[in-house]
Amino acid sequence: MSVNTKIFRTSTFRLAAIYLLVFALSVAAILGYVYYSTVGLLERQTEETIRAEVKGLADQYRVRGMPGILDVVVRRSIETNGALYSLVGPDGVHIAGNLETMPQVNLADNVWLDFPVIVGKGDSAVEHTAHGYHIELKGEYELLVAHDVQELRQFGDLIRNTLYSALALSLLLGLSGGYLTSRNFLRRVDAITEASHSIMAGDLSRRMPVSGSEDELDRLAGSLNDMLSQIERLMAGMKEVTSNVAHDLKTPLTRMRARIESALRNSSAVEYKSALNQTIDECDGLLQTFNALLSIAQSESGQVRRQLQMLDIHDILIDVAELYEPIADEAGGSLTLEAAPHLTVMGDRQLLAQAMSNLLDNALKYGENEEGKGADISVTAAIDGQDVVITISDQGKGIPEEDRDRVRNRFVRLDESRSKPGNGLGLSLVASVMTLHNGQLHLEGNQPGLRAIMRIPSSTTIPASPSR
Ligand SMILES: Nc1ncnc2c1ncn2[C@@H]1O[C@H](COP(=O)(O)OP(=O)(O)OP(=O)(O)O)[C@@H](O)[C@H]1O
Ligand SMILES: [Mg+2]
Repeated sequence: MSVNTKIFRTSTFRLAAIYLLVFALSVAAILGYVYYSTVGLLERQTEETIRAEVKGLADQYRVRGMPGILDVVVRRSIETNGALYSLVGPDGVHIAGNLETMPQVNLADNVWLDFPVIVGKGDSAVEHTAHGYHIELKGEYELLVAHDVQELRQFGDLIRNTLYSALALSLLLGLSGGYLTSRNFLRRVDAITEASHSIMAGDLSRRMPVSGSEDELDRLAGSLNDMLSQIERLMAGMKEVTSNVAHDLKTPLTRMRARIESALRNSSAVEYKSALNQTIDECDGLLQTFNALLSIAQSESGQVRRQLQMLDIHDILIDVAELYEPIADEAGGSLTLEAAPHLTVMGDRQLLAQAMSNLLDNALKYGENEEGKGADISVTAAIDGQDVVITISDQGKGIPEEDRDRVRNRFVRLDESRSKPGNGLGLSLVASVMTLHNGQLHLEGNQPGLRAIMRIPSSTTIPASPSR
């Protein structure tokens, strides 16, 4: 389709055409009305005057005969008010009146006619148009009463010409305006289409053009750009995860393969058994990694957001603490919980419990004090302004300030923690569960140790009272 045909198919051009039609009709109606109430009115008044004069003269003829009408025609012919008279006898001879020759047209009785008259004498003589009424009197006399309507006709022509030029001008301006705005619109749409084609071809960093006029196309392009940034971020995250997963699985799989190979070479039943047992352990580790990745993927998918329910953080904390308290005790540490009642949030119970477990697991693993005694963990939960705030604090080594952002990324583990089991996915899951709940994860120093803070917007809805 050529650019020009595309322009005529744009909604902008169609809208411009509709406006143009309405505008042209209004211009025609207004000027038509002006014409009717000026030129039309003057024409009607002239005809009325002529008709009254003809009637008066015919009456004179009927009552006073030829001398009567002659008298009036002669008298009126002298007046210079633009009226023209011609009284003609039976043989076509001019009897009286300031119009000496009858117009050279076929004259019937009771007809209106337009005819040319010569006005002025000698060099200044010009032809004007006259409009008059012709009747036949008894005795084969003829009477023509007319008026010089040259100026009136010129005025009429002027108004008619104005009407036509106004219509032509509005059509021209409207069409070219519609063409230009549509072309501009189409150019921007084409630029957006072109950008989207190059994005589809793989250039994910490309963005839709924004003109800066903040109109509807700009707003559309803006939200498409936001969407593209989000997609780019997700794609980058996915690439990173894929390479991290590949990297992280390579080591245990290589280990497993080497072990199985050496067991096969030695072919003793005891070694087979131990190799299989170790393989099961490696498999458990791998499954754990996959489960953690799946939980992160689940909390990052929009689907869970639609299933959030009203929950009491207090209840979940009690359940989770119940699981971890014996473990802390056994390791020679302690776990204390101080949770205010009724901490309602909109959330996913399983993911929130998982996030709390991950933080408690970290506190247990990394929260041992200097003497290697088990971790003393303190858990609190309370309302702070509009948020429910949960803190999990230990008194271990803590995380240096410069690493507190980095440790939220997937597979990041600090060097001193390498002796402990783990994949570096725990805090990533907590962070993505917080994002899912419109909340935040803060990591602070606890002097000594680490204080992990989860902040989730609280949700207090008033139960609907039965209306009656
Ligand atoms: N309470 C803490 N005290 C000191 N260091 C911590 C604490 N919590 C986390 N870290 C550091 O942050 C790193 C990342 O923690 P994260 O929970 O993401 O992974 P992980 O515990 O190593 O493994 P996973 O949780 O997947 O089993 C840990 O390896 C550790 O170095
Ligand atoms: Mg952890």
